[in-house]
Amino acid sequence: MSNSPVVLGIETSCDETGLGVVAGTELRANVLASQVDIHARFGGVVPEVAARAHVESIRHLTHRALSEAGVHQADLDGVAATQGPGLVGALVVGFTFAKSLAWALGKPFIGINHMEGHLFAPLLGDPAFAPPAIVLLASGGHSQVVHMKEWGDYEILGSTIDDAAGEALDKTARFLGLGYPGGPAIDREAENGDPAAISFPRALPDRPYDFSFSGLKTSLITYVRQQRDAGTLPPIPDVAASLQEAIVDVLVAKTFNAVDATGVKVVGGGGGVMANSRLRTRLQEEADKRGVTLYIPPRDLCTDNGAMIAVVGAHKLERGEVTDLGADVDAGLSL
Ligand code: KG4
Ligand code: ZN
Repeated sequence: MSNSPVVLGIETSCDETGLGVVAGTELRANVLASQVDIHARFGGVVPEVAARAHVESIRHLTHRALSEAGVHQADLDGVAATQGPGLVGALVVGFTFAKSLAWALGKPFIGINHMEGHLFAPLLGDPAFAPPAIVLLASGGHSQVVHMKEWGDYEILGSTIDDAAGEALDKTARFLGLGYPGGPAIDREAENGDPAAISFPRALPDRPYDFSFSGLKTSLITYVRQQRDAGTLPPIPDVAASLQEAIVDVLVAKTFNAVDATGVKVVGGGGGVMANSRLRTRLQEEADKRGVTLYIPPRDLCTDNGAMIAVVGAHKLERGEVTDLGADVDAGLSL
């Protein structure tokens, strides 16, 4: 472990200021300033407000992460930051701060694709995670089934054709009055609900790896309005559990379609939706049935964080893949 690069990772692509420190794949610190309370009153992330909140917390969090890791800034081997995708104003804060810090310290800078961070996150839970693997990426902005052939060699087998899974959860939770962010709220409500109470649609059965969640959202809204008008609306936990089941069903089915088609023995998961209790259970059941190994990071490493950016940074640094200080953020960066 002593030769593993010590890297500070900075994540500011959306509404969490995340700072992490790793030594290779070893997690040394992971600290977060969540803006959930700030954006909750607007019912969603306000880009300008997000950027300002990153500015306010980034310096203090950097000190905290280094202090928790027991690392002096001069001992860092590199500084990594999210380059994209995300909100441009929010990205610029972390990216510019990281470049400035790297420049001041005379250390290499590494720009990281946020989605590659989610792909690498299982490593922080268990360093045995390695390609070839099928990885389900499910977050507020993405739903993808990725064939990770090698580190750095990814084939996106399937994606959502409209809303991401997290987006569907956020929008439906908002409609149900459960607040923001919707995923954790639906997860909590569903705990006491019946997942078979209502049969919501499972879209695109004929496309093995693709998702569509916008019809599900419309279907839920129509159903709730009709039942409310008729005075026959089932308890909200039943609605939440049934909705969650419809989303989990397709995420699990399409992931394992890819496992079956490729014959890989390793399955990974990343992104905020991967914090979902029911999804974690169902993925584990399917993995056990097939004798494949499932790697899902602990919940706080599924949602956005700096440690996942740091671990990709350490990996790239070991391979000499560094980023020029003239580089800019790319809000539309893809894997
Ligand atoms: O990866 P992430 O933190 O940010 C993006 O890159 O988008 O994912 C955020 C998404 C939100 O849509 C949120 O509602 C969802 O992850 N999420 C959950 C849970 N925790 C967060 N969805 C379902 N169950 C959860 N427990
Ligand atoms: Zn994310």
